[in-house]
Amino acid sequence: MSTPAGPDRVIIFDTTLRDGEQSPGISLNAGEKLEIAHQLARLGVDVIEAGFPIASPGDFEAVRAIARADLGGSRPTIAALARAQAGDIERAGEAVREAAAEGRGRIHTFISTSDIHIEHQMRNTRADVLEGAKAAVAHARSLVDDVEFSPMDATRADVEFTAQVIQVAIDEGATTINVPDTVGYATPDEYAAFLRRLYEHAPGLRDVVLSVHCHDDLGLAVANSLAGLGAGARQVECAVNGIGERAGNTALEELIMLLATRGDRLGYATGAVTTEIARTSRLVSRLTGYAVQPNKAIVGRNAFSHESGIHQDGVLKDRSTFEIMDPASVGIDDAEQLVLGKHSGRAALKDALARLGHPVDGQELRRAFDAFKVLADRKKTVTAMDLEALVADELEAGEDDDLVLVDYTVEVRDARPPHATVVLESAARGRVTGSFTGDGPVDAVFRALDSALGVDARLRDYRVASVTGGQDALAQASVVLELGTPGSAERWDIPGVTGGERITAAGQGVDTDTLRASAIAYLRALNLGVRRVAGPRPQGDAAVAAP
Ligand code: KIV
Ligand code: ZN
Repeated sequence: MSTPAGPDRVIIFDTTLRDGEQSPGISLNAGEKLEIAHQLARLGVDVIEAGFPIASPGDFEAVRAIARADLGGSRPTIAALARAQAGDIERAGEAVREAAAEGRGRIHTFISTSDIHIEHQMRNTRADVLEGAKAAVAHARSLVDDVEFSPMDATRADVEFTAQVIQVAIDEGATTINVPDTVGYATPDEYAAFLRRLYEHAPGLRDVVLSVHCHDDLGLAVANSLAGLGAGARQVECAVNGIGERAGNTALEELIMLLATRGDRLGYATGAVTTEIARTSRLVSRLTGYAVQPNKAIVGRNAFSHESGIHQDGVLKDRSTFEIMDPASVGIDDAEQLVLGKHSGRAALKDALARLGHPVDGQELRRAFDAFKVLADRKKTVTAMDLEALVADELEAGEDDDLVLVDYTVEVRDARPPHATVVLESAARGRVTGSFTGDGPVDAVFRALDSALGVDARLRDYRVASVTGGQDALAQASVVLELGTPGSAERWDIPGVTGGERITAAGQGVDTDTLRASAIAYLRALNLGVRRVAGPRPQGDAAVAAP
């Protein structure tokens, strides 16, 4: 990539779609990843790490789709992760090929330098690591010009050995060196000192971009990233809402607003369009099913609300009394000001959707308007968040979904376990019904859906969040299913689906009725699972564990 100008310009490397997607229970499909990538470009990030292509055919396709897409906005560099192994690097290079042809495709390769990882995980030697890093970077450079190298678990590694590996990577052509605090163990002073020593022992580091990648196990990810900048780093790896492996990564919104708000003291610049932060956070939360805690800095519901009388009094007189940032600067006011009701017309809806970044016309607008009218009849006010959920729901409803929920009933009595009946319509199977007595109403509906289709799905994850506050709030349900019953092919009664396969599939549903939202989410996951099993199987389906 062309490095943004200026010695104090910080490169924002977003890893929401890679490290963020490694959070337990998150499973984004290619369409969802692409939607997030578009929004990240609007937000103005410099690099999007789109995935780990060797991990699965789905991950490969998602990275390739993002690398091929015209994202507009900041036209970010697209990075693909690869272990220091030939197969990984080939696959990563293939996935970002189109972006690389335009000078914005990156391979990010990594290998651990800590003895803990070398001895206990890789079971090899320091010499193997040195050789592996050298070969991996050389291979990556033969495919793309932009190569990032990370010595994993660096902060628990011997600094001189890590510097030696880094120097070899630079000699082979790495253009960015990223130093991960993989297990979130370092303290800010320690991390900065470690980076300074790397500069001493690897002189080539002065000629490339130094990057920081901090995990939040001790709540220090942002502080450590800032300390890294102080030591000379000019790229920060972060994820929207701080999602990521275990306790997550440096929260992108916190880092960006820290640099923006305390520019007086810190003097760094980014290319971020801060007014896109709130929308990006809501999108990632909705698609991942990971709710944002109310008191989360910058994007939490309470980040700009004042509870105590003294605070409210002060803010009413002058916002600067208790507010260090203008909510408008992170795009919060926009969403709050946008309110529609049941008397709002098509033009108002079209205008509101355009302001939210979803320009619609013609048939699409008619469909959106119909859905809006149904919602506005049930909800007094329809906010920006509701509209975003509505649009997402329309997008989620796959055109080739075979299974459609026609009706459901659940009998719930105090003395008896709940009993659910569902009615489905399917082009392939006609009208089918199923019923089941479950542990609770949601369980009963899910099992009734299973029984209607004769499948044995395992619920891996189920979450419900309210899109806004209030009694009439929309519920958004997310479901991750594991489908497949080895050895019981006869139980599958769906065309094209055979037994003996295990796949996971996710779905989301939005409705003012929580049970209906849950049933729709479950059915969409089933639809997706069925399509996946029935569709053509891409090559190289072996799943590789994420780093
Ligand atoms: O935390 C880590 O070390 C990583 C590497 C793959 C960069 O995510
Ligand atoms: Zn990480």
